[in-house]
Amino acid sequence: MSHATNQSWGGRFSEPTDAFVARFTASVNFDQRLAGQDIQGSIAHATMLARVGVLSDAERDAIIEGLTEIKGEIERGEFEWSVPLEDVHMNIEARLTQKIGITGKKLHTGRSRNDQVATDIRLFMRDAIDSIDSELARLREGMITLAEREADTIMPGFTHLQTAQPVTFGHHLLAWQEMLARDHERLLDTRKRVNVMPLGAAALAGTTYPIDRHVTAELLGFSRPAENSLDAVSDRDFAIEFASFASILLMHLSRMSEELVLWTSAQFDFIDLPDRFCTGSSIMPQKKNPDVPELVRGKTGRVYGHLMSLLTLMKSQPLAYNKDNQEDKEPLFDAVDTVLDCLKAFADMVPAIEPKKESMFEAARRGFSTATDLADYLVRKGVAFRDAHEIVGQSVAFGLKEKKDLSEMTLEELKQFSDIIEADVFEVLTLEGSVAARNHIGGTAPDQVRAAASRAREALKAHREAK
Ligand code: ARG
Repeated sequence: MSHATNQSWGGRFSEPTDAFVARFTASVNFDQRLAGQDIQGSIAHATMLARVGVLSDAERDAIIEGLTEIKGEIERGEFEWSVPLEDVHMNIEARLTQKIGITGKKLHTGRSRNDQVATDIRLFMRDAIDSIDSELARLREGMITLAEREADTIMPGFTHLQTAQPVTFGHHLLAWQEMLARDHERLLDTRKRVNVMPLGAAALAGTTYPIDRHVTAELLGFSRPAENSLDAVSDRDFAIEFASFASILLMHLSRMSEELVLWTSAQFDFIDLPDRFCTGSSIMPQKKNPDVPELVRGKTGRVYGHLMSLLTLMKSQPLAYNKDNQEDKEPLFDAVDTVLDCLKAFADMVPAIEPKKESMFEAARRGFSTATDLADYLVRKGVAFRDAHEIVGQSVAFGLKEKKDLSEMTLEELKQFSDIIEADVFEVLTLEGSVAARNHIGGTAPDQVRAAASRAREALKAHREAK
């Protein structure tokens, strides 16, 4: 190994880097994923340097041409990544110098890897956020469409996982959709803070060259240059915010997954998932397993882990850049990949859910799910709610003993508990009557579900236009 293993800082060293330390400190094996953003940032930097007269136009052109060729080499898989060159930034710069000679060494004028890497990650995150934004929109769209279709489908609603009151399947799907709408807002809000440009902060204090940070910000599509150079190279709040968005999103997807898993079981038997989203068992021929929702549920753990890693990474870090920050990339990359995969799985799968309407209806019928409706009926006839609760409780106890749902009892049987009850009671004891009666904004009535779906569609459209 040559005296200076790493030409970019070899000058002040009297012995080569220890071979293990070189490997230990290198990030190229994972940060090469930032190559596209690194080149994009370097082209903008060189363009700005020429505009303010620090580089000649010829130097700028040579740099841009060289970087463009390197981009091609990387895309074609021809680029040779070198671990002794430590990271993506120095690999690309070394190759540029190899290609265009001394001019390549001028690219780093007025810049440091500290502001360079912070810029690269923000560019990467901005692209990632935009892809996630589209997948989330596709999922919401599919959910709203299914909800509209299933506005009249009756299923049991649960609290404590015990049958509570009948609801419509469309209403349940729109509850999921609300969770995702909030995630979508959080994502867009995070994007605002991602889209601020650290470039120009240099190592930590700024640079003595007459740079124009508004030019680079505009070339790179950032909303503005970061205000403070110390903060610009050290801030990773945006990474933590993204990981917290991702954690909340995965928490939501895990809840939906859990319900899908339960619903496909023989015990619930509420839905079917098409075979393409399931796998079989190598030993039990009868099995069809809901692997996709199970895996999404399982992947929630790693995303929570990334949030914890990033929070802990930043805890107590003194200003400004510290090498610790090199550890931000793997959790972020994995969080992005996991979110994109899980959203794709859901966006493909949700529209293909096949509700088993009869089975859902039967389940709602079995669990005394109209008991509250009977209590409300008594209240409308002048009984105090607490007394009504007691009367219905006795009716349910009777039903349990006789194995009869409330709607299956005769008027005489019901009258044992209150002679206020008349034949009109059977209208409120039907499941259709029960859901239709909850007819206000946010309620489960089919007409409300249709109205809510159309508002959800408007909100999604507004989200797309706000971007
Ligand atoms: N690979 C480094 C990182 O990911 C780049 C910045 C290194 N800066 C430094 N002064 N060593 O954070």
